Amino acid sequence: MQIRRVTTTPYADQKPGTSGLRKKVPVFRQPNYVENFLQAILHALGEARRGATLVLGGDGRFLNREVVQVALRMAAANGLGRVLVGRDGLLSTPAASNLIRINGALGGIILSASHNPGGPEGDFGIKFNMAHGGPAPESFTGEVFRRASAMAEYRVLDAPDLDLGRVGGTRLGAMEVTVLDPVADYAAMMERLVDFDAIAAMFRRGFRMRFDAMSAVTGPYAKAILEGRLGAPAGTVANAEPLPDFGGHHPDPNPVHAAELMALMQGPGAPDFGAASDGDGDRNMIVAPGLFVTPSDSLAILAAHAHRAPGYAAGLAGVARSMPTSRAVDRVARRLGIGCHETPTGWKFFANLLDAGQITLCGEESAGTGSSHVREKDGLWAVLLWLNIIAATGRRADLLVRDHWASFGRDYYSRHDYEEVETERADALMAGLRGRLAALPGRRLAGLTVAACDDFAYADPVDGSVTAHQGVRITFAEDARAVFRLSGTGTAGATLRVYLERYEPDASRHDLPVQEVLAPVIAAAAEVAEIARHTGRDAPSIVT
Ligand code: G1P
Ligand code: ZN
Repeated sequence: MQIRRVTTTPYADQKPGTSGLRKKVPVFRQPNYVENFLQAILHALGEARRGATLVLGGDGRFLNREVVQVALRMAAANGLGRVLVGRDGLLSTPAASNLIRINGALGGIILSASHNPGGPEGDFGIKFNMAHGGPAPESFTGEVFRRASAMAEYRVLDAPDLDLGRVGGTRLGAMEVTVLDPVADYAAMMERLVDFDAIAAMFRRGFRMRFDAMSAVTGPYAKAILEGRLGAPAGTVANAEPLPDFGGHHPDPNPVHAAELMALMQGPGAPDFGAASDGDGDRNMIVAPGLFVTPSDSLAILAAHAHRAPGYAAGLAGVARSMPTSRAVDRVARRLGIGCHETPTGWKFFANLLDAGQITLCGEESAGTGSSHVREKDGLWAVLLWLNIIAATGRRADLLVRDHWASFGRDYYSRHDYEEVETERADALMAGLRGRLAALPGRRLAGLTVAACDDFAYADPVDGSVTAHQGVRITFAEDARAVFRLSGTGTAGATLRVYLERYEPDASRHDLPVQEVLAPVIAAAAEVAEIARHTGRDAPSIVT
């Protein structure tokens, strides 16, 4: 087999964001687009790549199959020693993170655009994870961008597609290729962390749940673990087959996109528990009978009860949440007497704290929850930990939530997204807000008083690095908060995210409509950021 050197010209737009390079499929289908970017990653790995092991897989979306084959041929032409690839090119993000860690791999290439839609007109993405199993830091992605911007030639092995449908070993030139069952090692890890026997006994006693895999990658994982290992009835996992276009749906586990699951859980025949995961399996949605559990509450509840699961029996070293996530978990940490970190949005900040052993659990308001077991958020893990807690306490999920509020108070929470705003207008809104910050403290807005505000900057306690301009936080004297930031993951225009929360300690006031309780915070946020004037919108596109 020949190594071919192909002359190419660079694309200017191959700058990876916090979740790798994410673009529309037609962009990725331009000539040499995929090859240029993969070569930039391989170059950025430097000499360390020679003979090294790489993990490879994706969430099954449109282009996954083709790009896996290209990546294999290019890895072989660039001196990698071995590639571990999921059967059919599939690997969930948390499973890939685990494989990198347990095999001492140099890193992993994960093909996914997470919860974004797929298909020929949908989104595709390529991200790189490092040897610790977590997303690449800016030092690495910056190097990839520099290399991609100057790409003149890439190397690829002249070889036909490999058959990835069967588990086993094969060779591609001098490189070893191992096709793995994508689920096996992940399931074994889950079995060590959560009490499978207790959960299985609960299913035998008639406990019923619905897991919506949203036609994305967690289908095979959930079927093997929930229905296979834990004995949940067949059909527990819905939309279990990964489809290239996710069946035309948006594989984003939130009340809007998982409407069917929401309707089931609100209805009279609701099962005991409902859950969903996203395109690549790192996000989770938890729904109790008659009650959607916000990711912020879920994180707090998991932190309060984690010790009931074997993997966390020794307690938690500490916890962390992203800045816009509600402060519910802070209250748990205070009571447990453990540290609580507030980090910028994105998993890489957690990864540092996890590596340093400063935290055990972490999460984001955007439906990401995780622990020290991998360096990514993990959707199915969160679901299994919930099941473990339900089995151990004998309390239904909605009662666990109400118990939690009664004990800690309720952090009413909502996120308002303004999608596809013109970039210039969104930037002007943020700039205007930042410019007004100094004048805000003490000001009355919609009946609330601004107590403090800032443009969030994070000093990493592990490596000392400072990450600035991570979003504007405004806290009000009335135990409320509004946070503003622009999305870093969108593929069309800008998305303004407005995060709203209000604390209510009084248990007799824990059943009020969320948007009503938040109305003054919503009004204050609209006023202070001049949302209508800047965006030209009088309402958000998505309320979660
Ligand atoms: C979104 C979420 C963020 C998450 C990221 C990657 O980023 O808000 O919490 O870490 O996706 O999954 P955003 O679009 O807000 O920049
Ligand atoms: Zn995801």
